[in-house]
Amino acid sequence: MFDYEYYKQNYNAYSYMRDNVRKDNNRLRYHLMPPTGWLNDPNGLCQKDGTYHIYFQFSPFSSSWDIKLWGHYTTKDMINFKEEEPFLFPDIDFDRDGVYSGSAFVKDNNINYFYTGNVKLKDKQYDYINEGREQNIIHISSKDGIFKTNKKLIMTNNDFPKNMTKHVRDPKIYFEDDIYYMSLGARDKENRGCIILYKSIDLENFKYYNTIYTDYDFGYMWECPDIFKINNNLFLLCCPQGVEQQGDKYQNIYQNGYFKIDYDFIKNEYNLGDFVEFDKGFDFYATQTFQDEKGRRILYAWMGIPDADYTNPTTKYNWQHSLTMPRQLIEKDGRLYQKPLDELKSLRKDEIKCSINKFKNIKIEDICFEMNIEFLYNQEFNLQIRDDVFLIYKNNLLTLSLGKSGYGRDKRYIDIKYVKDITIFSDTSSLEIFINDGEYTMTTRVYSIDLKQQVKFLSENKGNILFYYLDGYNIEWR
Ligand code: FRU
Repeated sequence: MFDYEYYKQNYNAYSYMRDNVRKDNNRLRYHLMPPTGWLNDPNGLCQKDGTYHIYFQFSPFSSSWDIKLWGHYTTKDMINFKEEEPFLFPDIDFDRDGVYSGSAFVKDNNINYFYTGNVKLKDKQYDYINEGREQNIIHISSKDGIFKTNKKLIMTNNDFPKNMTKHVRDPKIYFEDDIYYMSLGARDKENRGCIILYKSIDLENFKYYNTIYTDYDFGYMWECPDIFKINNNLFLLCCPQGVEQQGDKYQNIYQNGYFKIDYDFIKNEYNLGDFVEFDKGFDFYATQTFQDEKGRRILYAWMGIPDADYTNPTTKYNWQHSLTMPRQLIEKDGRLYQKPLDELKSLRKDEIKCSINKFKNIKIEDICFEMNIEFLYNQEFNLQIRDDVFLIYKNNLLTLSLGKSGYGRDKRYIDIKYVKDITIFSDTSSLEIFINDGEYTMTTRVYSIDLKQQVKFLSENKGNILFYYLDGYNIEWR
């Protein structure tokens, strides 16, 4: 069993991983990565008494998919971070094959966590869809995000509607009118993805309330749901699996986006709007949001995707994947826009301010930068962001094209009628591109060998550039 004792006993034996990780030029400077090993979904995001807690799916001793813990970083300002000991271990029968994804809800003086205890039966052959798996919902609480109560099992597969497969997980709480709604991602027996809703008045006892479906085919499983309100607009975020590509939509193996949803919680009736993808890049999944003490709705996503058919070169250095940078969600006309969190401005160093044409003569010295481009009018362009990475706008298609440094990722595009501005956050091995005030984003990992790379316009354009080299996070490692 991978409990705390096992972790402690093996921690030193795996110290070579920590040494190896430090040698990798692709280690990111202002993103949260696993200290060693593997990272996927952000979990339990919250702020309590000024401190932000960022937990994540974590396999410390393996750089590929393995048994999951919850890793943990804390910060007060989103720039100075501390690596904490892992917060949750798979140490009871109900979560023995992984403490899977979950969330946090701060109530009174307590952080309430709900997560999925994953159990995989190995006594015989199973399909692991209808049989062979248990997914348990477990509750714990903590006053400081570090010390926690015992695990309390609150639901098992037997509590879920009878038409569900064994795939039901990733609890998240939405609170309205003194009622707590828990959403769970699910796959039903007809292989339709859906969200199951439970209702509670005390965060202890949950009663089945409803199941949310689209009235058309939309994948076989929806993971990582999140329901929240901004400016009186309710949104349901989730990650559908099994949706076919249609033009510029759904180019990745799995999807991550949101529906605008109108929910009459008295009549228990809902209306789903269209599904909008969060990101048009290669590496973006399992988004989770939370409201911080300033009232901002903040998003983190996993800058990776499950079951993708490429391997990242960082595995040679005993680590893989990272979270995106934190982004604030802004609602405009029922649509969500993403904005880099204001705190990231304090990473800015030297500023370069010039026209696009002048920028051509500047040699970029370091690949960690923020670049804001404002076009004077809608125009085609070809922007080189790495020696072999280009952002090209032509015939109403905005294409991100990666060469060798994409490690198998090649092109992603957006069908878009005008481009008025672009903001690029470039880190050693990642690009986060915000288009038209964050109406669209493209997020991807990219692995160049040399960190001095070409950044320049290959086309003639009219517009202005604000460019900053960026500092890294300050992380206090254990
Ligand atoms: C999403 C996901 C979740 C699950 C977790 C396991 O990436 O598959 O549904 O809880 O990862 O690590």
